Amino acid sequence: MCGIVGYIGKNRAIPVVLSGLKNLEYRGYDSAGIAYVLNNKIKIKKEKGKLDNLVDKVNSDIDSFLAIGHTRWATHGEPSVVNAHPHCVGSITLVHNGIIENYDELREEIDYQAVGETDSEVLAAYIDYLYKQEKDILKVLNKLKSILKGSYAIGLIVNNDDSLYCLRKDSPLIIGLGNGENFIASDVPAILEYTNKYYILDNGEYAKVLKDDVKVYLDGKEVKKKVNTFEFDITSAQKNNYKHFMLKEIHDQREALYNTLKSYEGVVLPDLRKYDGITIVGCGSAYYVGMCVKDDYEKVLNVKVDVEIASEFRYKRVILSKKHLVIVISQSGETADTLASLMKAKTLGVDTLAIVNVVGSSIAREAKEVLYIKAGVEKAVATTKAFTCQLLLLLMLVYNKNNYQKFTDLIKDVEITLAKEEYLSSLAKSIYKYNDVFFLGRLRDYAMCLEGSLKLKEVSYIHSEAYAAGELKHGTISLIEEGTPVIAIITDKEIADKTVSNVKEVKARGAYTIVITNQVVPNDIADVLINIDIEAVYLPIIVIIYLQIIAYYVALERGCDIDKPRNLAKSVTVE
Ligand code: G6P
Repeated sequence: MCGIVGYIGKNRAIPVVLSGLKNLEYRGYDSAGIAYVLNNKIKIKKEKGKLDNLVDKVNSDIDSFLAIGHTRWATHGEPSVVNAHPHCVGSITLVHNGIIENYDELREEIDYQAVGETDSEVLAAYIDYLYKQEKDILKVLNKLKSILKGSYAIGLIVNNDDSLYCLRKDSPLIIGLGNGENFIASDVPAILEYTNKYYILDNGEYAKVLKDDVKVYLDGKEVKKKVNTFEFDITSAQKNNYKHFMLKEIHDQREALYNTLKSYEGVVLPDLRKYDGITIVGCGSAYYVGMCVKDDYEKVLNVKVDVEIASEFRYKRVILSKKHLVIVISQSGETADTLASLMKAKTLGVDTLAIVNVVGSSIAREAKEVLYIKAGVEKAVATTKAFTCQLLLLLMLVYNKNNYQKFTDLIKDVEITLAKEEYLSSLAKSIYKYNDVFFLGRLRDYAMCLEGSLKLKEVSYIHSEAYAAGELKHGTISLIEEGTPVIAIITDKEIADKTVSNVKEVKARGAYTIVITNQVVPNDIADVLINIDIEAVYLPIIVIIYLQIIAYYVALERGCDIDKPRNLAKSVTVE
């Protein structure tokens, strides 16, 4: 979603802020803007649409050494220049991520006539109103905590003050630490070109950032912060020679899965056997990770495992025993609904375990226990390597002891799968012209279908549905026409015959069938038969990689904006 970058230092600020925003483009946005200080005056430029529209309008050679920039993903008010950030009212210019829930009350309190429709513009007006009274911006920032309702990460500059200010609550913000220069950003990739050292602002903290000094405060008192170091190679966050981040990240999986495996070698993982029930919560693909492991968990742990969509779980009436575990899964560690579900589980007094990629993220910090996957920075909106690393870590949690050797075989199988890229790209040519694609499978195979279908629709814009194979004939089979592609997954020996029958049903109605299986199935059910010759606990990881590659190449054939599909955001920090 929205991205924030701010710079103060010895170098020209505009190119740093613009390149930082470029590195946050992956989060999804629909307008962009920058404010910079020149000869003691604050200048603002904003544009609708792609960041390049803004880049074309701003002269990067200007001698400005303090700037804040923003990419906006519309929540309050349509994408437009007036609604884009930065917002300037009186002495205050700011960029804001999050939602100020009581902005209407604040607007009425100060009787402000807004120009646009955003809560952020009202926020700027309100801060300006307080600043006129207090005449001390740090005092104002301290006061805001008890006034603002909702979530915010704010970068701010003040007329006639050569400093950069920031504050946060429930929306991520970091302060990058350079040499003679400092940064603020909503996400680490924005600063990696310049530094890998940063502070993570905690809820309620605010800071004054100068080129060679950073002071962080909480409740009026200065706090000492721990310096974090980004542990991955910076090139891991770059596209290198790949056409898209999605393809690069599909290939990264070999290393990401290896890193995830290795980092837990010899580590005692939490014992899930002590719980009498488990609920797994996530959004989007993270929810499907839970679906993919549900059967394994129930089989191995012999307890009931529920998998819940976070936006539902947070509002649902749930009764959990004291010996219950809630596992939350999130790549970003900032998804609003997942974070709210975690907070709910904590209120219910049960144990919580977070499976997260981004170190120090809100979910990682709030959970009783956190296990990090080692996927590195994931930039394509459609998740690939984070998904398979989450899956791996969750499988390791139940299979660790007996299957460690088998898990290390995984890397070889990943390589074999990646080597089939060319073949799978040719397969995409037989799918891309269709408007509907269906996925069929039962139980765990169905869970994989859900992820495969999501991947395909988010990047290629083809309408796609995943169906529990036996359910299709209760309605949706009416959509099968001559040539409609149907992808079936058959990896469960006990019910393989049942899914085979369902594939026959669609084939009899003209479907073009692609069957991915490790079972012996009749040749005539498949127009394309993809045999995965493995029986292993990590099999879903391999199947998902096939589906990722197919989705990628279908989207490529259709000329889609693969890394930044329309309307989607990488990190969904609002409800
Ligand atoms: C967005 C992304 C999905 C992701 C979901 C949950 O919708 O586009 O790829 O699965 O959010 O994100 P999280 O960061 O919590 O895993």
